[in-house]
Order: sequence, then structure tokens, then C-alpha cells
Amino acid sequence: MDRLRELGARIAAREARIGVIGLGYVGLPLALEFARRGFRVTGFDLNRAKIESIQQGKSYIEDVPSADVAEAVAKKSLTATADFAELSRCDVINVAVPTPLTRSKDPDVSHMASAMEEIRKRLRSGQLVVLGSTTYPGTTHELFVPMLESTGLRVGHDFALAFAPERIDPANRNFAVREVPKVVGGETALCCDLARQVFETIFDRVVPVSSTQSAEMVKLLENTFRAINIGLVNEVAMMCNRLGLDVWEVIDAAATKPYGYMKFLPGPGLGGHCIPVDPTYLSWKMKSLNFPARFIDLATEINGQMPEHVADRVADLLNEDRIAVNGSRILILGAAYKANVSDVRESPALDVMKLLRAKGAEIAYHDPHVPELELDGVIFKSQDLTDDLVSSQDLLVIVTDHASVDTARAVARAQRVFDTRNATKGIREGSEKIRRL
Ligand SMILES: NC(=O)c1ccc[n+]([C@@H]2O[C@H](COP(=O)([O-])OP(=O)(O)OC[C@H]3O[C@@H](n4cnc5c(N)ncnc54)[C@H](O)[C@@H]3O)[C@@H](O)[C@H]2O)c1
Repeated sequence: MDRLRELGARIAAREARIGVIGLGYVGLPLALEFARRGFRVTGFDLNRAKIESIQQGKSYIEDVPSADVAEAVAKKSLTATADFAELSRCDVINVAVPTPLTRSKDPDVSHMASAMEEIRKRLRSGQLVVLGSTTYPGTTHELFVPMLESTGLRVGHDFALAFAPERIDPANRNFAVREVPKVVGGETALCCDLARQVFETIFDRVVPVSSTQSAEMVKLLENTFRAINIGLVNEVAMMCNRLGLDVWEVIDAAATKPYGYMKFLPGPGLGGHCIPVDPTYLSWKMKSLNFPARFIDLATEINGQMPEHVADRVADLLNEDRIAVNGSRILILGAAYKANVSDVRESPALDVMKLLRAKGAEIAYHDPHVPELELDGVIFKSQDLTDDLVSSQDLLVIVTDHASVDTARAVARAQRVFDTRNATKGIREGSEKIRRL
């Protein structure tokens, strides 16, 4: 326990060496934040291209400026490596690897397990391990305590183990990393306290909870809350369509209520690495306890139907002008899962494109953030959004509303528009051609 207590002093003096395993959307900003606050940080990744990029001072994440990476690397406060032997020199090890679903939609813990195995092989007294990957309640305690204790070292005595969920929101410029409170839960009170100390060096506020399970559940509550509320407004959008109402007007008016209502927006479906995936981690865990997660299952079903709903509405719109989807030319505006990012993981745009292609449409897309993408083994390249391209298409479908796209110009040139994001709000020229979700 003395070695762990010493770690507290080393953290306070910024002498503790920080490791971050997984240098993606979460890990790279975290590593840089520690480097900025005077720690020496080693980032670990399996992807050699990412390691080389960091060592050359180049960022591959839109929210992270290359200048920040270059400065941290030049000062030697940040290095990146694929050599896990370096883990033995780290006092604090953060794990920020992916937690996707398997093909059968079960949690895929393999990335966390392999990162933890690298830690296990080199675990020593006085180290703090913090899992940050989103996962089901019990992962840290049930999977990783036994794994790390198989070394003979004891949690809370020889090494510390905590869970601290990540809350980063790509492309959201309203909050700096340090401004978003950090939740931490430890396997023991000392584990929690050490994690709190580490994160207090980079966050304005740290919120300790009583256990790793509770910290895991906090993250799942946050994202499940989003997924369910998005499911609700998606269903309301379908109701409004049946009722002949404008869902966007209804939502904007409801959002003027100063209390008791929170604004969520409908759209073409859920995307990204978090909201479509995380609630499934919770429902999977609950199934093992014979507890059906009904809200999650319903929201998953409704949100999962949205790309199909979009494809149906597209077909209806073309049908109004006696055009069949089969053989029609359809331009998809925006392929990323949300505005102003390049991430296409789980993007509903891909589903909409697949569905329309399956019905025989000739699909092209434009996305300034996504130069190319793969669909059913075919590579598509983003087309320049020229007036000629837009006017030559039967239909423009706005799937993602990137700020840098001149939507008004595209709408003015388009023959017909289907807008899944209310991106055409306020556009007058050509408004008669627009249909909204
Ligand atoms: N992206 C977000 O907005 C966000 C927000 C909150 C939480 N999260 C959670 O954070 C975790 C990481 O997500 P992300 O978006 O940063 O993922 P990512 O795919 O952007 O980055 C993960 C990185 O880990 C690397 N990696 C995978 N297995 C590894 C291993 N065994 N050893 C070393 N490196 C390995 C990958 O090469 C990749 O660079 C996930 O659990 C996710 O749910 C993500």
C-alpha cells in the first residue's frame, strides 16, 4: 500500500508517468491534456500509422490541432509507441480502446481484454490502471480484477484499479475537455482517491462514485438517455408525418418551455461509436440477469427503422412525380454520422445508401469530411458539389448537415430535396421542392 500512497505524491508533483492505451478520438485528446499539464505521457496503439503520425507531430483527429501534437512531441512530453514493454515505466495507465458489438450484437470486449493483458504482463506495485472505454456494469470488477490479480498483486494494496468514463463529444466546441466533469469509481476507496487525484490535474471537477460498477452505469445512463429520447422524437417525427404536421415546428415550439422539456432532434438514424452501441451493452448485461431492458429495446428498434423510413419517404417523393426509385439518380449530401465530423462508423447515411441502391437507385454522395467510403465492397468517392452535378440528379437527400456545405445553393439547383435534418430551415428559394423528415 505504501507504493500506492507514494503514487499520490508523485501525481501531485507531476512526476508520475502517464500511459494511454488507444490513441483514438478519446485517447489522443486525453494524452495531450496530461502532457499539457506537465506530465510525461506515453501513448500506445496497435496502429503504426497513428504512431508515426504523432511522432511526426501530425494529428489525425479533427478536433485535435497538429500544432498541439507537434508541441507536445517537441517538448518530449508526449511519445507514441507500439512497444508495450514501455508500460512497465508508466505509473498511471489509461485504457481508451474501442468497445464495439460483435456480429451477433453482443459486447466485444476483446480490445479491452488484449490491452489489459499487456498491462497484466508488466503489472507492478504502485501502478494505477484506469479503464475509460464504455462498457457494461461489472466489466472492471468481474473481468479485470481477477485478470490483474492473477499476477499475485492485490487490488487496492499493490495496484489500483478504477473506471472513469469518457464524455468527449466530437466537434462540440462549446466545452473544453477540462470543463466537462469527470466521473470516477474505484475498486477500493484508495483506488478511487488516486484516480480522483490524477484527473483533478486535468479536469475542473471530478465526481467520485462508490464503485467501478456505478461509474460504468453512469456512462450507460447518459447514453441510454440520449438513445431513448432520440427514439421518442424519431417516433414523433413519424407520427407527425402521418398527421400532416411539421415535426420541426412542433419541437421548436415545445423547446420554448423553460423547464421540464429537453430538446432532442429526429434524424435518419443513430450513428457513431457510442449512442447506437452503448445501450446494447446494458441490455446485454441485464439479459444475463433475466431483466428485459424494454425502453432500450424499443428505442433500438425505432432508431434502427429510421434509414428505412427515409428510403420509403424518398420513394414516395419520387412517386409524386411518377419516377421509380429503380434507375433514379440520387445524391446523398453528407455521409458522416453527424455534422462536422469525418467519422462514418454506424453512420445512417451508409444504410440509406444501401437501401436505395438495393431498390435500383444510382447513388452518388458529397461529403467534404469523407473523401471516400466503402459500401457492400464498392468504393464510392465524394463528388464535387457542382451545380451541374446537383441539377442532374432526380433527388438530393440531406443526411448530414455539415456547416461547410452551401445547402441553400444546392437546394436552389436541385430538382427535389428530402431533408432529414431540417438543414433547409429558412431557405426560401426552391422551398416548394423540399420535403422534410
Ligand atoms: N468517440 C467518442 O466520441 C467517444 C466518447 C465517449 C466514449 N467513447 C468510448 O471510448 C472508447 C474509445 O473510443 P474511440 O472513439 O476513441 O475509439 P477509436 O477507434 O477512435 O480509438 C481507439 C484506438 O485504440 C486502438 N486499439 C485498439 N485495440 C488496441 C489494443 N489492444 N492496444 C492498443 N491500442 C488499441 C485503435 O487502433 C484505435 O487507435 C470506446 O469505448 C468508446 O465507446 C468514445
